[in-house]
Amino acid sequence: MKDSLFTVASQRRLTENVYEIRLKGDTSAVVLPGQFVNLKLDGFFLRRPLSVCDLEGDFLTLIYKVVGCGTEQLSRAEAGEKLQVLTGLGNGYDTALSGTAPLLLGGGAGVPPLYLLAKRLRAEGKAVSTVLGFNTVGEVFYEAEFRNLGCAVAVTTADGSYGIKGFVTDALPETYTHVYTCGPEPMLRAVYRKITTGGSFSFEKRMGCGFGACMGCSCKTETGYKRICREGPVLQKEEIRWED
Ligand SMILES: Cc1cc2nc3c(=O)[nH]c(=O)nc-3n(C[C@H](O)[C@H](O)[C@H](O)COP(=O)(O)OP(=O)(O)OC[C@H]3O[C@@H](n4cnc5c(N)ncnc54)[C@H](O)[C@@H]3O)c2cc1C
Ligand code: FES
Repeated sequence: MKDSLFTVASQRRLTENVYEIRLKGDTSAVVLPGQFVNLKLDGFFLRRPLSVCDLEGDFLTLIYKVVGCGTEQLSRAEAGEKLQVLTGLGNGYDTALSGTAPLLLGGGAGVPPLYLLAKRLRAEGKAVSTVLGFNTVGEVFYEAEFRNLGCAVAVTTADGSYGIKGFVTDALPETYTHVYTCGPEPMLRAVYRKITTGGSFSFEKRMGCGFGACMGCSCKTETGYKRICREGPVLQKEEIRWED
């Protein structure tokens, strides 16, 4: 884990309320896809966690949806501005579990961490299938970016305005060797019920410290309590215990 100053290199709007921001700084603590960073924003006591979407040398790419005051403020950050960032947080996805034909399932703001994962899996020569799920056509982002990595890509929209009508679970390929997923909890539950292989599930929790000190993000699993920020955010299918 490292706390360092990053410079905003660029920022662009991907959809009405989703932004892609590129940050330049010391990325040495970022090792695995599925890890996250915690951003300090002026005027906010708690940092805001965002998944690493891409890593290229000194550059980190993050994609975030504007849902409240923190992300709204971030959307106004301009090139050259400085941000204090805690990097190298969370356990990340383990590509060794993938088998030869992994399936990546992302829903909305859960899509970003799957991009670096897809990149790593393609570099390892895996046949990667990806299903990206959104509510409607105007929310779709990164379809071309996943295709450019050489992934087989399907897009679902809940209202049928683009791609396959329905949820990511309506577009599963016939065969796959392991599932990696990130998205809203109802989606994760549906994926859990439907898949026939092992799976790595990335969870979101409201976070305090973001690095294991406050216990604010702990949750019950089949193997005891785990802190989503430290022993997660990725849990394996067999250790998940759903709470009603
Ligand atoms: C490990 C991790 C990785 C994440 N990665 C991404 C990402 O790549 N892209 C992205 O868009 N978002 C991601 N999130 C969610 C993101 O952290 C929140 O949307 C953000 O902190 C909201 O800040 P805010 O000040 O704008 O909203 P707030 O004013 O704090 O909250 C506004 C709304 O967002 C909800 N919210 C706030 N924080 C969270 C949270 N941690 N989890 C779920 N809902 C929350 C609140 O319940 C509220 O409804 C991630 C969260 C975690 C825990
Ligand atoms: S957020 Fe503090 S322990 Fe996880």
